[in-house]
Amino acid sequence: MKLSWNDVTPEPLVLNRRAVIAGLGLAAAGPALPARAAVDPGKPNSFEEITNYNNFYEFGFGKTDPAENAGALTTDPWAVDIGGMIDRPGSYSLADIAPANAVEDRIYRLRCVEAWSMVIPWQGVPLAGVLARVGVQPSAKFVEFQTLLRPEEMPEQRRRSLDWPYVEGLRLDEAMHPLTLLATGLYGKPLPNQNGAPIRLVVPWKYGFKSAKSLVRITLTDRQPVSTWQAMQPSEYGFYANVNPGVDHPRWSQATERPIGAGLFGGRKETLMFNGYADEVAHLYAGMDLARDY
Ligand code: MTE
Repeated sequence: MKLSWNDVTPEPLVLNRRAVIAGLGLAAAGPALPARAAVDPGKPNSFEEITNYNNFYEFGFGKTDPAENAGALTTDPWAVDIGGMIDRPGSYSLADIAPANAVEDRIYRLRCVEAWSMVIPWQGVPLAGVLARVGVQPSAKFVEFQTLLRPEEMPEQRRRSLDWPYVEGLRLDEAMHPLTLLATGLYGKPLPNQNGAPIRLVVPWKYGFKSAKSLVRITLTDRQPVSTWQAMQPSEYGFYANVNPGVDHPRWSQATERPIGAGLFGGRKETLMFNGYADEVAHLYAGMDLARDY
């Protein structure tokens, strides 16, 4: 089934695109920025850094393992099954989900739970637009993301070191937020395998592990999904996983981070609430105790 881009882009996406353009220092033609402009994410890391310091445990647990071992992953053909509580379930091709004329540039900070960070120039489509086009039913409250299970090409899946496949979840309003992206590229090139080819989630205000790589299934559900890390170690990894300098991981502080590539004298930086996206996302958590719902 084909998704059509006939729908007009929802207004928040348009605003956000302008904000991102302004953040890049490119000519921001048109009206002044909205009050809720995206923060300046900072200078992007190099392509080398972004593609050689990765977490993609299907290919090993070392930071260079994904770059070394992911080359053999076959990503063409690829389809993403979108199902559950939607009107138009089906198997969607990459071109259906992210047609070239709908792909946007987004420079986002990525803050890993291990307390390092990067700035990455992604290309992708807002998840909200994809969900709008498959017709989310009123009963849906959460979105579950399932990634590739292919032990023939993923060495750690043969070792059963984690409960594969890697699964993540978002609340529906988080999934519909204009910052939430399905990324298909970085630095203007198709997504390198080690970064989650051919399509991955990017949720910039959450710890990096929420941004599931090599997606094969998106399911709308009324039950809160149990993510891989939550299932492994519930006392250390919660469902929300919002970047929060005030709530430490049980074994280390989350107050600061080490920017990758900052060099020996670059020093650590203070971690910002919601990774710097508080103006845009804090309202999603109004009234919640983020120390309890970590
Ligand atoms: N997705 C899958 N399928 N498997 C993984 O091991 N690691 C996560 C996330 N997505 C992971 C994944 C973690 S811990 C992080 S920090 C980010 O991917 C890293 O993304 P990057 O390597 O593109 O920077």
